[in-house]
Amino acid sequence: MKIIKCEDYAAVSQKASEIVINQIKTKANSVLGLATGSTPLKLYDNLVKAYQNKEISFKYILSYNLDEYIGIDRNHSQSYYQYMHQHLFSLVDMDEKNVHIPNNDVNRIDEIAELYNIDLNKHQIDLQILGIGSNGHIGFNEPGTPLGNETFIVELDEQTRKDNMRFFNSLEEVPKYAITMGIKNIMKSKKIILMASGIEKADAVYHMIHGRVTDELPASVLQLHPDVVVIVDKLAASKL
Ligand code: F6R
Repeated sequence: MKIIKCEDYAAVSQKASEIVINQIKTKANSVLGLATGSTPLKLYDNLVKAYQNKEISFKYILSYNLDEYIGIDRNHSQSYYQYMHQHLFSLVDMDEKNVHIPNNDVNRIDEIAELYNIDLNKHQIDLQILGIGSNGHIGFNEPGTPLGNETFIVELDEQTRKDNMRFFNSLEEVPKYAITMGIKNIMKSKKIILMASGIEKADAVYHMIHGRVTDELPASVLQLHPDVVVIVDKLAASKL
């Protein structure tokens, strides 16, 4: 693991965007693994600016998102489908047919997970972008998830639902289930960058880097990947 400590969130986002921009410049048809949540927002902002400055194009990029809530419609303002279109895809020249976000139709969810997985196994991710949950989850691989899992349906941790309550009106409104890439899918990526910002991530970041590899802190498995860059701000790095 390579650890890059930055001054603040803006610097974390800047560093991450340099890596993503370089990846796209080096390989125009890169396969990107994408995350949602608060952490990558500024990264996406920077990528949109780089596109507007004609530095990069998303025309040939293939993208696979880590996860999606189950129990809210794709058109719901907090779905990850909406998030990705709002913050990145509708602002760049991304071809919609190259966008992959797990469908969350409950009636076909097992089949969807299986098909997403088959697709992931056909297209190795060149660069996977990750955030980290305060409980050490990556994607929605919550503590206790078997490290050998491929795309699956997960019941969200109480902690995760509380953390994500800020996007909803109440805890009841936060979905209880999600579809997520498994740890095995994430670990197959050629390169991974994990970004973390803020004091609430400090414990998880510490255990990810210095703890033993355990399914109790799923991000710790990244210690076993050959090419991981962890980009953290001062607060997230405060326990290192
Ligand atoms: C999002 C995802 C999650 C988040 C994590 C951190 O697609 O897979 O693992 O990266 O929950 O979320 P934020 O960035 O909102 O703190």
